[in-house]
Amino acid sequence: MRPIAAQDSDARIAHLRLDRWIDYPRAAHVLKILSEMFDTPQRKRMPCLLLHGDSGMGKSMIIEKFKRTHPPIYDRSSGVEYHPLIVMEMPAVPSQRRFYAELLQVVNAPYAPSARIDALEFTTLKVMQAIQPRLLIVDEIHNLLAGSPREQRGALNLLKFLSNQLNCCVVIAGTADAVLALQSDDQMVSRFRRFELARWRESDEFRGFVQAFEKTIPIRERSGLGDQPMVQALLEASGGLTWLVADVLTNAARLAIRSGKERITVDLIRAAALSFESSAM
Ligand SMILES: Nc1ncnc2c1ncn2[C@@H]1O[C@H](COP(=O)(O)OP(=O)(O)OP(=O)(O)O)[C@@H](O)[C@H]1O
Ligand SMILES: [Mg+2]
Repeated sequence: MRPIAAQDSDARIAHLRLDRWIDYPRAAHVLKILSEMFDTPQRKRMPCLLLHGDSGMGKSMIIEKFKRTHPPIYDRSSGVEYHPLIVMEMPAVPSQRRFYAELLQVVNAPYAPSARIDALEFTTLKVMQAIQPRLLIVDEIHNLLAGSPREQRGALNLLKFLSNQLNCCVVIAGTADAVLALQSDDQMVSRFRRFELARWRESDEFRGFVQAFEKTIPIRERSGLGDQPMVQALLEASGGLTWLVADVLTNAARLAIRSGKERITVDLIRAAALSFESSAM
């Protein structure tokens, strides 16, 4: 960060806006579970996972990170693009038609949107058998709740069906509402192992997270974000939500640059949280 910290204020503030990935033990643990699932040899009942946590805890960031290291593989001799990993979102309208359409779209498969549902299902299965997914991740699974009970059951059955037909692992991710949606189905409850990305509390892991964050911020003095008063102020300002921790820290860093203070203080964290609250109103 040092060369960037030497740049002028505007360049550094522009740098603050860039996305960053911060490693922390629970994320590493989820990535390890995903890797193990990805490497599971095919068997009758493939392991499945429900990753849940409040909105903004970082579920999609973890999935994106995993996706970056598992790209599709193009086989020149057969002309087939294999997708060992498929990542999709549960459509906001969780009908079977939308689900199939989304699934085909993320693997770049052509399909006729007006096709009858059984034709769409047939196409999807054929395409999936050709591209051989080992792991299917469906994010934003809480969108299920926007559907009628019948649609919800239909979508859950579809996931089971795909997992069984293709012998692939399924991961679904979403908020606590996702847990509710699953509870309507006993078989799903028994089939899906659960992992919760709970809100941050005071812990070595949180201290580690904010210390790692500090290393990505282009300011010139040490802030000591892992120190007790800072940690407490951050938890108060964010309610333990990752996106708010990141947002408050980014705003506080901007204030530290603009004011010439060049370090984040407890007061700046509070000011950043307040400016966030007023802009949200
Ligand atoms: N590992 C991380 N490193 C850096 N920033 C992170 C990390 N995880 C989460 N964040 C911050 O939190 C924000 C929200 O993360 P993300 O979109 O993954 O949450 P989510 O759990 O998928 O939320 P939702 O349920 O609303 O989809 C990110 O845009 C980023 O600013
Ligand atoms: Mg998400």
